[in-house]
Amino acid sequence: MARIQLDLATHLVRLDSETDFAGWRDAARRLATNDIAPEDIAWQVVLEDDFRGDDLPTAKPEARLVVPRDFVERAETVICHCDPERFGLLYRLLWRLRSEPKLLSIASDPDIRRLEAMEKAVGRDIHKMRAFVRFRKIGEGEDDRYVAWFEPEHFIVERNADFFARRYTGMRWTILTPHASADWDGERLAIGPGAGKRDAPAEDDAETLWRTYFENIFNPARLKVKAMQKEMPKKYWRNLPEASLIPDLIAGADKAASAMIARMPSTPAPHHAKVQAKHWPTPAPADANESDGAETIPELRALAKGCHRCPLWRDATQTVFGEGPESADVIFVGEQPGDQEDLAGKPFVGPAGKVFDAILDDAAIDRRKVYVTNAVKHFKFEPRGKRRIHSKPNAGEIQACRWWLDKELDLIEPNLVVALGATAAQSLLGKAVPITKMRGEVVEREDGLRVFLTIHPSFILRIREPEDKEAERERFLDDMRKVKELMAA
Ligand code: URA
Repeated sequence: MARIQLDLATHLVRLDSETDFAGWRDAARRLATNDIAPEDIAWQVVLEDDFRGDDLPTAKPEARLVVPRDFVERAETVICHCDPERFGLLYRLLWRLRSEPKLLSIASDPDIRRLEAMEKAVGRDIHKMRAFVRFRKIGEGEDDRYVAWFEPEHFIVERNADFFARRYTGMRWTILTPHASADWDGERLAIGPGAGKRDAPAEDDAETLWRTYFENIFNPARLKVKAMQKEMPKKYWRNLPEASLIPDLIAGADKAASAMIARMPSTPAPHHAKVQAKHWPTPAPADANESDGAETIPELRALAKGCHRCPLWRDATQTVFGEGPESADVIFVGEQPGDQEDLAGKPFVGPAGKVFDAILDDAAIDRRKVYVTNAVKHFKFEPRGKRRIHSKPNAGEIQACRWWLDKELDLIEPNLVVALGATAAQSLLGKAVPITKMRGEVVEREDGLRVFLTIHPSFILRIREPEDKEAERERFLDDMRKVKELMAA
């Protein structure tokens, strides 16, 4: 229960916490209904245990105090500001609202301007905390938990804690800050006292992952140092694992951007233009981070690292580009990288990849000699606690990524393409096709490219009945044997 006290000798109203909105509201109600004017009192937060009792007059029930809902909501935000004068400002506004009911809409009023500035500052700080908190793992197995150290500017931990509980529901985590800590045990959220940086664990493996992610989303052509520092102010750098990369990335950015620009052609590749005109009358959005000038798969892969053609890059760790020799006769196209591919940066290395590899082996197809890629090159998922659940790419994402697949086809010029599942077929043929009906068929595109249709190997993984699973594996093996024959034809 919040404690409040009015020291009659000093006219000080004491609250027992920096973010005690309930306490402030209770005190403000009592003061206002007893006609104690804002200029007659001062506010103070007393963290020590030296409350001497509750001398505040009780609220006068007969004195009605109507407070606009909007004000209450804004006051709840502003109470998190670190300015000690916020309590007094809020009380003055409450006092004035009694005789100036339109006060909140007078943007030129100095009190309203301060209210707005504080509200914005708290909002920004909340956003920064959501963006820059980095958890470090401690313990293993059943005992694992995640701990983060963060230094917000304002008293925002309580206000932000629900967000983290929703986002990281399946994890047990603690966020430590100088003012307060938030702890989630998987079921219950608890707010505790502040802590020191040394209470948080030191670097772990997850840091490497963050660094890889940051390196991959970093786009030299888009570098604006001032804007970047505004988004990620230097004061947050010391707690971010990826920050150690920033000086080198900035230093190398000019060179990397010039190399990108030098590769840019003045006209699109003819095959690309033809395919675009046929399937997508509207050109793909221009994007300064990519160029049509890649002449080899490694160059194309390097460009795709900074791909922002659709929003999937934001949540994925990195672009997972195709792999295999540029001289390959056949290209296998999957749907999109899964969780493991996203972390490894390589296609088909997770559970579906294992099934795929084993069946290729049985069909005497050497994976090292074929090119394997995906229709969509970023992992799309829904976070569910600690897990990231695969989410199917939509038509817009498939279309946006078709640009890269086309370039891969252009450079490799395969004899045959294998569409593994519906997403790959849709990307390669420019329209949805019924895979179960058409599996095993070869469709010839207008540009003469043969597309072999089959299921995605993850379909086999999802079958529970061992006999059905085995039968489906056999069918997929038959498909791969056909592929083997078609590769040579
Ligand atoms: N599924 C795919 O379609 N591609 C991968 O790379 C992995 C799983």
